[in-house]
Amino acid sequence: MNGSIDFGYPWWLSYGHLVILLPSLAVLFAAWRREWRRGWLLAFGALAAWAATSMFVTRSFNVNGRAPLPTENFLKSGVGHVLDIGAGTGRSSIMVLGARPKATLAAVDLFGDSFGHHFGSNGDPRNRLLANLKAAGVADRATIETGDMRKLPFAAESFDAIVSAYAMDHVGREGARQALAEAHRVVKPGGDFLLVLVGNDRWTKFAYGPLLTHGGTRGPAWWREEARQAGFTVEEEGSSPATIFLLLRRPG
Ligand SMILES: C[S@@+](CC[C@H](N)C(=O)[O-])C[C@H]1O[C@@H](n2cnc3c(N)ncnc32)[C@H](O)[C@@H]1O
Repeated sequence: MNGSIDFGYPWWLSYGHLVILLPSLAVLFAAWRREWRRGWLLAFGALAAWAATSMFVTRSFNVNGRAPLPTENFLKSGVGHVLDIGAGTGRSSIMVLGARPKATLAAVDLFGDSFGHHFGSNGDPRNRLLANLKAAGVADRATIETGDMRKLPFAAESFDAIVSAYAMDHVGREGARQALAEAHRVVKPGGDFLLVLVGNDRWTKFAYGPLLTHGGTRGPAWWREEARQAGFTVEEEGSSPATIFLLLRRPG
C-alpha cells in the first residue's frame, strides 16, 4: 500500500511562529490579569499580532502541502514529456503530473548538500522522492535522474516542457544563467518552461525576516531579463504568497 506524502520541509517553515505566538499570548493574558503596565501589554500584543499574521502567511504558502499549478496555460495540450529541474522530494513533479494526467516526467536533482539542507538527511533522497511519487499515484509516469541543472545530462530538445520550482535560486547568479541556458537547450522549440521562485514579497519578509535568503535580492525583473537573454519569451507572470512564477517559452 502507498504511504502518505511527506515533502519534508522543516517544521519551522510552517509552524515556527507558534513558538512565539503561544508564549506571547500567555504573557499577554498574565499582564492583563495582573494589571501590568500598559507598555508590556502593547509590546506583547504587538509580538502576538506579528506572529499571528506570519502564521497566516505561512499557512497560505503551505509548503508541505500539494501545490496547485500556478497557471493553466502551462502545457495546455496536456500531453508530453516534462523535465522537473531540482525536483527535491517531488512537490513540483506531483504538481505537474497531478494537473496533467496524460504527461510523463523526468525528475532531476543533484541530491547533494542542498537537498540535505532543505529536507534533512534521513534516508536515501531518491527513495524519498520515489515514495512521494508513489503516494501521489504518479510514479508510473515518472523517472528519477541525478544531474546538475548547470550541465543537464540530456540531449538537446529532449523535452516538451520544463518545470522548476524554488530551485534555480540556489545556484547563484552565474549558476542561474547556466541553468536557464541549459533549460533552453533541452526543451523543444515551442516548449513551455514554468519557472517558479520564492518571491521575496513584503509578506514573506514580514514573516521570515532574514531567515529566508532564497533568491537574494533578485526579483522578477532580474529573472525576466535573464530568461530573455537565454532565448525564452515571457508569456505570463504572476505571484501568490511567497511565490513568483514566469511562464517562459522557447520560440518555435
Ligand atoms: C527548495 S528545493 C525545491 C524542491 C521542489 N522543486 C519543490 O518544489 O519542493 C530545491 C532543490 O534544488 C536542488 N538543487 C540545488 N542545486 C541543484 C543543482 N545544481 N542541480 C540540480 N538540483 C539542484 C536541491 O537538491 C533541492 O532538492
